[in-house]
Amino acid sequence: MSFSGGWYPVALSNQLEPATSAGTRLFDREICIWRDSDGGVHAWEDRCPHRGMRLSFGFVRGDRIACLYHGWQYDMQGRCRFIPAHPQLDVPSTIRVATYPCIDRLGMVWMCSDLKMEMPLDLPIDRRDIAPVRSLYVDCAPIATMQALSARSECTVLAGGALISIHAGPQNMIAGFQPFGKGKTALHIVFLGSPEQYPGNARRSAAVWAEELRHDLEREPVPDTAPAGSYEAAPWRS
Ligand code: FES
Repeated sequence: MSFSGGWYPVALSNQLEPATSAGTRLFDREICIWRDSDGGVHAWEDRCPHRGMRLSFGFVRGDRIACLYHGWQYDMQGRCRFIPAHPQLDVPSTIRVATYPCIDRLGMVWMCSDLKMEMPLDLPIDRRDIAPVRSLYVDCAPIATMQALSARSECTVLAGGALISIHAGPQNMIAGFQPFGKGKTALHIVFLGSPEQYPGNARRSAAVWAEELRHDLEREPVPDTAPAGSYEAAPWRS
């Protein structure tokens, strides 16, 4: 099992409200995810082309995101459209942010690490009724996390490792796997079914299960066997 370039979940959908932005990572690369006012999701390099400020600190206004520092505004294609210090300027089309394919599926925000990816996101499960549980950030390498999870629960690896189906006691869950960076992994956990099917105690016990998993993974760290540099270079193509 190895993690390579492709589609990965980077947040639970309900964590990203309309007209908000957040910072995350994929394979150690800083990513800005944001949702426009119409609900569309976007995943960009988290760096303003002007002076390098994180765009995830910026403000979403309608279908644009504005940088916190000097207010440059970028449209949904990543192109700079307005510079407050030069309001009459026809902004050159070369001023733009690197944008990645991004989509909402299975209650998660997915992005592709390949800028030129033309393959659509193809998941073996296609459901709209999803009950989010929580996101879990662990100080454990992605492959080691996958192995530890498989050892303690009945699991099925799906979508090349980006998804895992988990049967833990009475709970049946799906977790999206985000290779966060070297030695770090995020799991985005959901129930398949509407929130009404999962009363508060089911979600609480799933959250407790997830917290115990994190505790176990971090108490007995498993060595990261990924080759040096593989997180920085291998999955990215531009
Ligand atoms: S650093 Fe973003 S507008 Fe100046």
